[in-house]
Amino acid sequence: MSAATPIDVRDMKIVHETFRRAYDQTAGLVRANPTPSAQRVTFLADHCDFALGMLHTHHESEDELLYPLLAERVPDQLAMVERIEAQHQEVTGAIDAAAAACREWRTTPSHETGEALAAALEELNRVLQPHLDDEEGQIVPLAAVTVTQEEWRSMGEHSRSMIPKDRMAVAFGMLLEPLDDDDRRYMKAELPRPVRLLFPILIQRPWNGYKEQLLHGT
Ligand SMILES: [Fe+2]
Ligand SMILES: [Fe+2]
Repeated sequence: MSAATPIDVRDMKIVHETFRRAYDQTAGLVRANPTPSAQRVTFLADHCDFALGMLHTHHESEDELLYPLLAERVPDQLAMVERIEAQHQEVTGAIDAAAAACREWRTTPSHETGEALAAALEELNRVLQPHLDDEEGQIVPLAAVTVTQEEWRSMGEHSRSMIPKDRMAVAFGMLLEPLDDDDRRYMKAELPRPVRLLFPILIQRPWNGYKEQLLHGT
């Protein structure tokens, strides 16, 4: 099946921007404070787990709702589709290693466990970036002329449905933070109307508080 005109696939690159920054940023924050308070360790470890979980969910959505459709509908591109999907396995290994390092740091915070966590996050970033490049460069343009807008949208809906309600402001804050005004408007338009109307209270204010704590907490 091939769509007559490309569907709108802009949100993939937008979502990837969050992943491109999150792990190096977290590594930097762990390294920035060698003697964190117990409260700071809990906050940053929770943040780290959440950022890792977002990537895991993103890939799960793609594995279930995107790659199988491409493999089925564009058999002549199967080798390329399988090669890029297989990169998810390497990324999963790096996510699991970072999650294990985070558990270790959370329970036994020290210079060594902090450094091990930061190194694991940097390793995740190292294996992730080429995957995001390949996906944006080859998978997304193919998907734009292969799947329907509804099928594409179901990926985002699946990812959003996996975010706990009390983490929604953090998820959207992380998502919107690196964007310019145009992309920010675009992503906000995807929110349900009641959330959009109450955006300053439901998202912006809690995110501002969270960001302050993330960047400047001790
Ligand atoms: Fe992706
Ligand atoms: Fe992916």
